[in-house]
Amino acid sequence: MNILIVGQGGREYSIAKAIKDENAQHKIFFMPGNGATVNLGENIATRDYDELVVWAKQKDIALTIVGPEQPLVDGICDIFRLHNQAIFGPNKLPAKLEGSKAYMKNILKKYNIPTASFVESQDQKILCDFIDDMPTTPIVVKADGLCGGKGVIIATSKQQAKDEVADMLSGKKFGDAGTRVIVEEFLDGFELSVFAICDKDSFIMLPAVQDHKRVGDGDTGPNTGGMGAYSPTPLVNDEIYKKIETNIIKPTLDGMKKENATFTGVLFVGVMVVCGEPIVLEYNVRFGDPECETILPLFSSSVFELFYKCATNDLRSYQLKMSDKFCVSVVMCSKNYPYKSDEPTQIIIDRIDDEDIATNSHISYAGVSSIDGELFATGGRVLLCIGTGATIADARDTAYKLCGQVHFAGKKLRTDIAYQVI
Ligand code: GLY
Repeated sequence: MNILIVGQGGREYSIAKAIKDENAQHKIFFMPGNGATVNLGENIATRDYDELVVWAKQKDIALTIVGPEQPLVDGICDIFRLHNQAIFGPNKLPAKLEGSKAYMKNILKKYNIPTASFVESQDQKILCDFIDDMPTTPIVVKADGLCGGKGVIIATSKQQAKDEVADMLSGKKFGDAGTRVIVEEFLDGFELSVFAICDKDSFIMLPAVQDHKRVGDGDTGPNTGGMGAYSPTPLVNDEIYKKIETNIIKPTLDGMKKENATFTGVLFVGVMVVCGEPIVLEYNVRFGDPECETILPLFSSSVFELFYKCATNDLRSYQLKMSDKFCVSVVMCSKNYPYKSDEPTQIIIDRIDDEDIATNSHISYAGVSSIDGELFATGGRVLLCIGTGATIADARDTAYKLCGQVHFAGKKLRTDIAYQVI
């Protein structure tokens, strides 16, 4: 089949790799892809989604998979569905669950889904009065719109929270994305990423993943898109998992139907577990990155079929089977990530002689370009080294062994992925 993947990161690379590993006959196109996706398929460029859907029809694309949030929030799925093209992802209206944090919080409130207490407003006085009334710090201040993962501030004092509110509302900090602001209570517990694959009639939950958002070991330094992850996590027992399904996923999907905004695709719930109770931090409407790269290697059932059956509303006939292994991913990023980009620098990978690395690990490429057949790190999150094993420790050791074989100037990585459970 011909398959189109929209996006250019490690997430999109890993989806393509999983599909190709199952069946090398599939022909994969990327819009726009990166310097390494050309080894899995063909990169294309189009001006807009209208042009893309015409191209997809001409190329006989049987399935389009959308990786990142921006095209979903922009309405790519609405356009493809108008043209009867099978596409994996939510329409523009349900994508507001990620596109507008105010919309998301109001859905949570309306359908009694557990979340931190909050106020959302464009009015500085309302936001600051709420801050004054808060019994404790820290205080969470969020910009309403998409800010590339930078729109959430944990303020350690009431004054800092008020300053952040003023900065966001002024438009100086995040432009229009910050002119509506959410102030909410800080939750202390452990964080999980939970994914539900949803078609119009049913959903399938995947094993929980734990991401590592801060750039430095010991969860220090600024937030990033994610520096590594592991799955499944033993921090989640059956009771917590069932509560996530019953108290969060089901009422969310039922609520979205009542809003005439039926959700399809992958619902990514950022959960904080506080004293055994799962509470929603946020929704995203796409796979997490590096979570996606960390779950897909654990599939025993077909990854392609999961996407295809979801996009064609046939999820009930899909039997999810996961291996009994664990997976750990370690992100290698460039020197100045997440502050600024870096000059391109060549990536050198040693010859792999170690049997464990050769059998149980692989690389997923993200911020890379290709020049004359050589790969260059182009800044940000460059690539992920991914290991699988019979235990989390085995998977982690294999992933780190692979990291030792990969070199580029200024390479940076966390050395403590999965520390919570090892
Ligand atoms: N790793 C978190 C995210 O993709 O938003």
